[in-house]
Amino acid sequence: MSQNGSLVEDLQRLESQALQAVAEAATPDALEEVRITFLGRKDGRISSILRRLGELDPEERPRVGAEANRIKSRLQDALSEREGTLERDGEGDEGGLDLTLPARRPWQGGRHPVTRVIDELVEIFRGLGFTRARGPEVETEWYNFEALNTPLDHPAADEQDTLYLKGGHLLRSHTSPVQVRVMEAHRPPIRVLAPGMVYRRDSYDATHTPGFAQLEGLAVDEGITFVDLKATLAEFARRYWGPGTRIRFRPSFFPFTEPSAEVDVKRVVRRPDGTEEESDWLEIMGAGMVDPAVLDAAGIDSERYTGFAFGMGPGRIGLLKYGIPDLRLYLDNDIRFLQQFSGP
Ligand code: PHE
Repeated sequence: MSQNGSLVEDLQRLESQALQAVAEAATPDALEEVRITFLGRKDGRISSILRRLGELDPEERPRVGAEANRIKSRLQDALSEREGTLERDGEGDEGGLDLTLPARRPWQGGRHPVTRVIDELVEIFRGLGFTRARGPEVETEWYNFEALNTPLDHPAADEQDTLYLKGGHLLRSHTSPVQVRVMEAHRPPIRVLAPGMVYRRDSYDATHTPGFAQLEGLAVDEGITFVDLKATLAEFARRYWGPGTRIRFRPSFFPFTEPSAEVDVKRVVRRPDGTEEESDWLEIMGAGMVDPAVLDAAGIDSERYTGFAFGMGPGRIGLLKYGIPDLRLYLDNDIRFLQQFSGP
């Protein structure tokens, strides 16, 4: 009886050691080690105990044998369960596929809000006969100032102070140099729209940033007058903001246009209750007739041709269009802001 009791006790001690070893096995190889140690046919620890069954009274053998079989099958269950767990963990590490997870939606990019505005403006002016042009952001003083009738010691050059690079280059302070480049490369009739970034020594606040987008317009042909300028911009404003939109020209000065104007827009805004009201006047661009000196500097006969030009800030137009309160939001690269403009 005592021998029998000690065999059963030995078996039960083995059982708990084995279960603990199974739980602690961290890899499939370690688990296989545990299986061999406890269940191995030849040298396995359970087999070694069972080999001592012969020492028992014949009538006691079945009870001990039954206990041994129970422990064996419990251990086998524990081993295969642990094996399953280790395999699943391993798959996780290797980027295994879990087909029950919901599908990941592909990232959908979106145009930057300023790019959206530029595309809308370009599209409208395309309908008015303007094609897209572009010029470099790194310019020379000639294109940025002098060819635009702006001597370097002119106060207007001061107002557009910018970053100078080596070798007499600078970051363009406006898109107007593209006017000159286009006139050098093409004979009239010319109708182009040139969007792009410009740079100025400026503060960084809700209404100013040292880098911003501009959209330049230029039309040069025989017989172009101020009426063409005004009609073109009025038609643009109606197409962009709606039929009731009005524009207003205020006298202004730019060295490269004569006469020059600041252009304001008054929109019709729909109130939440469906009634309409007019917005305040808002300045949206500078414009004017191309100064004959600019035509001449670009090699275009100012006796024969006239033209108009305008320059606006799509970023500011976007503030109106989307109700954006602060220009800096355009440059923060905050995905929560930009995401609102994703999609077509
Ligand atoms: N280049 C001017 C500016 O940056 C805008 C402008 C463009 C004015 C074309 C007149 C004609 O302020």
